[in-house]
Amino acid sequence: MTANAEPLHEAAGELPFYLPQGNEVALFEHAARHQLPVLLKGPTGCGKTRFVSYMAARLGRPLYTVACHDDLTAADLVGRHLIGDGVTYWSDGPLTRAVREGAICYLDEVVEARKDTTVVLHPLSDDRRILPIERTGEVLEAPPGFMLVVSYNPGYQHLMKGMKPSTRQRFVALRFGYPDARQEQEVIEGETGVDRDLAQTLVNLANALRALKDHDLEESASTRLLIYTATLIRSGFDPVEACRAALVEPLTDDPEAVEALMEVVLASFGR
Ligand SMILES: Nc1ncnc2c1ncn2[C@@H]1O[C@H](COP(=O)(O)OP(=O)(O)OP(=O)(O)O)[C@@H](O)[C@H]1O
Ligand SMILES: [Mg+2]
Repeated sequence: MTANAEPLHEAAGELPFYLPQGNEVALFEHAARHQLPVLLKGPTGCGKTRFVSYMAARLGRPLYTVACHDDLTAADLVGRHLIGDGVTYWSDGPLTRAVREGAICYLDEVVEARKDTTVVLHPLSDDRRILPIERTGEVLEAPPGFMLVVSYNPGYQHLMKGMKPSTRQRFVALRFGYPDARQEQEVIEGETGVDRDLAQTLVNLANALRALKDHDLEESASTRLLIYTATLIRSGFDPVEACRAALVEPLTDDPEAVEALMEVVLASFGR
């Protein structure tokens, strides 16, 4: 399991950089105030994780992040008995810690987790707000500060792996997409310090790549990849080579598709 052993506390007064796309900040704050769980959906690299860190810092709550995968069980979230120095002791998982501390627990790619995790998520995400710990017999009541946030990428879902309606309908759901051109340019400038012209060229290029439908790409160029590209160019790499390494090769393994995408790159830089 990949989880922060310690909660992430942002330095007081210093919020991570986040440029809102719409009313997501107000919706999240409302959900936090009214003790509602939140579901974020959207393609890779569009700002979901950044948004959660920003909101945790803004609300002044500790944040536990768990990257879910197909071996993740309820015990990974809740905790388990461990043996040390010949004695058995109980060790809280990240979800239990978050409940005890009134923190935000963020389950990234939640659809990947094993089905048995829904048993612990359901009573926590409706108005009961309880976490029964079967192994110890404890039943924890979540304090007002506790908040469950989950995210997934609808594009990757296998038919069998969708979220069940009974789970989905416990959440306030926010859909994320890539920011519009103006905002994406500001995000790139804000994150990397490149000048406006370059940020604009990269955003136009990304939108041209996103518009290409005939290359069977699983996902399109993300804001994250644009940031990688801008960072390479800023450190002195040739822009076309930076685009190849950070924008085009990560999208596909098919050499013909790479060359087709590189045509678009070359055109953007007037070569
Ligand atoms: N609205 C935004 N404001 C500030 N930075 C942003 C914004 N959107 C995207 N970014 C930048 O894009 C990068 C990728 O975003 P993030 O890691 O949050 O994506 P994600 O949606 O969690 O992706 P994944 O589904 O792959 O986990 C961030 O590190 C940040 O630099
Ligand atoms: Mg993420």
